[in-house]
Amino acid sequence: MTPPARSPADLGALAQRLLDDLALATDEPGRVTRTYLSPAHARSIELVGGWMRERGLATRLDAVATLRGRREADGPAGRSVLIGSHIDTVVDAGKLDGCFGVVAGILAVEEIARRGLNLPFAVEILAFGDEEGVRFPSPLSSSSAATGTYRREWLTARDRGGVTLEEALRAFGCDPDAVEAAAIDLEGVVGYLEVHIEQGPRLEHWGLPLGVVTSIAGQTRMGMTVEGMAGHAGTVPMDLRRDAFTGLAEIALTVERIGRQGTGDLVATIGKVAVRPGAGNTVPGRVEASLDVRASADAPRLVALDRIRHEAERIAARRGLTIAFERHVDVPTCPMDERLQEAFSRAVASLGGDLRRLPSGAGHDAMAMARRFPSAMLFVRSKAGISHNPLEWTDPLDLGLAVEALVRTLLDLADAEGRA
Ligand code: GLV
Ligand code: MN
Ligand code: MN
Repeated sequence: MTPPARSPADLGALAQRLLDDLALATDEPGRVTRTYLSPAHARSIELVGGWMRERGLATRLDAVATLRGRREADGPAGRSVLIGSHIDTVVDAGKLDGCFGVVAGILAVEEIARRGLNLPFAVEILAFGDEEGVRFPSPLSSSSAATGTYRREWLTARDRGGVTLEEALRAFGCDPDAVEAAAIDLEGVVGYLEVHIEQGPRLEHWGLPLGVVTSIAGQTRMGMTVEGMAGHAGTVPMDLRRDAFTGLAEIALTVERIGRQGTGDLVATIGKVAVRPGAGNTVPGRVEASLDVRASADAPRLVALDRIRHEAERIAARRGLTIAFERHVDVPTCPMDERLQEAFSRAVASLGGDLRRLPSGAGHDAMAMARRFPSAMLFVRSKAGISHNPLEWTDPLDLGLAVEALVRTLLDLADAEGRA
């Protein structure tokens, strides 16, 4: 007998339980930190893989440690719908960013089976391991591998402990020589769907649990290295110093000013700084910092990057410092697929209430997936827009509504495929 359909409240409570369990897989006891190819990442693959297998999905790990769980089509083998997000986190993260998209996919597939519904396509759930780019400076590397746009030079980057990405992959049991084999065949794919918390305040402001994403802000991520001269904090007079840190501090205020002056939702952030040699009684001789610049259109981002570079070089020269930039990521603004936006929209509308569409300021695996596959995203309301913070929270009922919307989106696509 077919078990009864779960209500959004039940789906949400179940999603929350799984997310609470997943949050226990952490590299830092007492807070959620799960970086790519870490022991906590391995534990999360075991846990999520178990959830997939319990629900009848066949699992495997690809060459870059993306966990893939597949449910075959009912009836003749056809194309497949990809559903995904990431299970890595930032440092001291919340429980929802990325993880909810994977959990939502698993619960939606389970719900389809519980309701005795058939799908004319396979569903493949992708739990990506490297969206955030915290351990290595190559965010979206695992979804890039799925689209055949992996850049081999990423493999030589080192983490803080000096381990290269290639070494970390091998130690994890993966085969970096086979990254090309992780690419998914374009012909066989209907599209890629990603459910994600909004991580911003708009849906809450509108009083809506769900919204459909129109586009994802383009982003550039760079490393900046400022070089000066290390010296004794007690003997080098103030007017003879070439202090790399105070140089960076002035550059940081300039980055903030340029960010504030920009158009198109421009944002500019320095989120990571390492001061060398890093002793309280030594004038800093070198500073390594990150730079993250995003906007909803490409032009304001590129103009801001030019200005930042120009001003930073001017400040460095005035202070007797040098500055070097290394570009790690440059992803243009990414529109979401219209047809899949419509499918998500019909599903949301069928749940009642208003339908609103909104752009994403955060980056997502959907940006990489959209290079090759029709891709779309559904956002779920975030409490106070807080994310990349342990206070990140979404009402479990909203989580349940998102799972229900994903079920309905799959049925909508099934209808279209059946008719195709
Ligand atoms: C990912 O969370 C990003 O937007 O950086
Ligand atoms: Mn994130
Ligand atoms: Mn995310």
